[in-house]
Amino acid sequence: MVAPMAQLETDYLVLGTGIAGLAFAIDAAAHGQVTIVTKRGTIDTNTNWAQGGVAAVLADDDSFDQHVADTLTVGDGLCDRKVVEGIIAEGPAAVEKLLALGTQLDRTPAGALDLTREGGHSRRRVVHHEDVSGREIQRALMAAVAAHPRITVLEDHIAVDLLSMAKYGGDAACFGAYVLAKATGVVHTIVARATILATGGAGKVYVYTSNPDVATGDGVAMAYRIGAVVSNLEFVQFHPTVLYHPMAKSFLISEALRGEGGKLRLATGERFMDAYHERAELGPRDVVARAIDNELKKSGADSVFLDMTHLPAEFVRSRFPNIAERCLALGIDITQQPIPVVPAAHYMCGGVKVDEVGQTTVKNLYAIGEVSWTGLHGACRLASNSLLEGMVYARRAAAHVQGAVAVRPSHITPWQSGDATDSNDAIVVALNWDEIRRFMWSYVGIVRSDKRIDRARRRIELLRDELREYYWNFKITSDMIELRNLALVAHLIIESARRRKESRGLHYTVDYPQKAEVVRDTELQLTNGPAA
Ligand code: SIN
Repeated sequence: MVAPMAQLETDYLVLGTGIAGLAFAIDAAAHGQVTIVTKRGTIDTNTNWAQGGVAAVLADDDSFDQHVADTLTVGDGLCDRKVVEGIIAEGPAAVEKLLALGTQLDRTPAGALDLTREGGHSRRRVVHHEDVSGREIQRALMAAVAAHPRITVLEDHIAVDLLSMAKYGGDAACFGAYVLAKATGVVHTIVARATILATGGAGKVYVYTSNPDVATGDGVAMAYRIGAVVSNLEFVQFHPTVLYHPMAKSFLISEALRGEGGKLRLATGERFMDAYHERAELGPRDVVARAIDNELKKSGADSVFLDMTHLPAEFVRSRFPNIAERCLALGIDITQQPIPVVPAAHYMCGGVKVDEVGQTTVKNLYAIGEVSWTGLHGACRLASNSLLEGMVYARRAAAHVQGAVAVRPSHITPWQSGDATDSNDAIVVALNWDEIRRFMWSYVGIVRSDKRIDRARRRIELLRDELREYYWNFKITSDMIELRNLALVAHLIIESARRRKESRGLHYTVDYPQKAEVVRDTELQLTNGPAA
């Protein structure tokens, strides 16, 4: 028996509880009822795992022009300058707002905000809370959300699909989502005046990632399925330094360690970054990740090492308490021993295409935070620009959404799927998931080629054929929903990579090692792109 369905109503339906979703909810609750849906707990977000901080122009020796210039340089020709300037101009106000919401940011002994530095930045401009900035921001925003009478949070609820007027013979317009309550198996129909995707990234498309398990690209997949344009998905950012240890899953070693003087070394102790970039360890992320990948391929070693041992032990322990403690628990004293590190998938620079207030190309559907493509990050994201982008677009979308005019059909069809159950469900999901993540890493990873991308394409097509059949015949589960989304996002990354015949930013292919003369976005839409 399929469980009975229920229809719920809200003004604003927010999918996701990272910085963008929570900040949006706090602002939008001033003029409407907000329902936030999150597929696990509220703290299962990329934001909560963010170590670095928020980039903003706050120092006397810094300027908006300098921050813009750094963003454009790292973005490698693909940023939208107007968007970059607009976001960076709002940086100081975004930091003020975080402080007003109770976020504790580190301060100097004189009481000023302490600014750290990360790769690609020419100045110190990243505000932070120790090495757990995201956790502190998440805490402060959640406290405000929990105290607000007009915000409801549904934990352990996962969106299945967005509701679209196109299914009822209208133009593409979104009026909510089908949402599975994991505990009961009920698929609710949540109807909303506006729907806000704040679902984060898709690091789990790759076998090695710094992301939590929830990062399965749900927002991109759902938006694409109802006809929204998605942009530049080939630009997957690989963080250069994730801890390499059999007992450590996805543990980031923040770029701020290099910002504070950490050096990358081979197993022999030799430094190598000088040969790859004038800023050495503080070069753009794509350059550092590719350099490490190259050194690992040359030497056959399992990892390179990040060395902090030349810095005062007390400084290292107090500036990076979380990293020091976690490494020590695994037997690595970072004040005495270099840290074994490898690159891993970290951030989706591409996403659902939005305008300057977060509107997608589908009416009443907004996308904010990592799930979106605003034009800020271009072909490679400058470190710590993303939490800033999340705050800015949350504010803008919450202001704009007030004007959203509700559309909906007179009768809404409840969710329908097969009701067969399968005792092999778990193993089918696990095997397919594993297969996707491995071939994406090998064929559509840090260094790509036409041949590798074609191999990935053949595999994902086969897999998605099998999945489609399985998905519609069997009773829907959270794992199946995630796998379906993950497979579609992998497919879209492959298709985007296939279309970019040049090397730019994070997309490096040995077949086209140079940049093309014409700079263009890779845009995919269901009407002319691959199948959903
Ligand atoms: C880090 O701490 O290295 C991550 C910062 C970021 O990804 O923006």
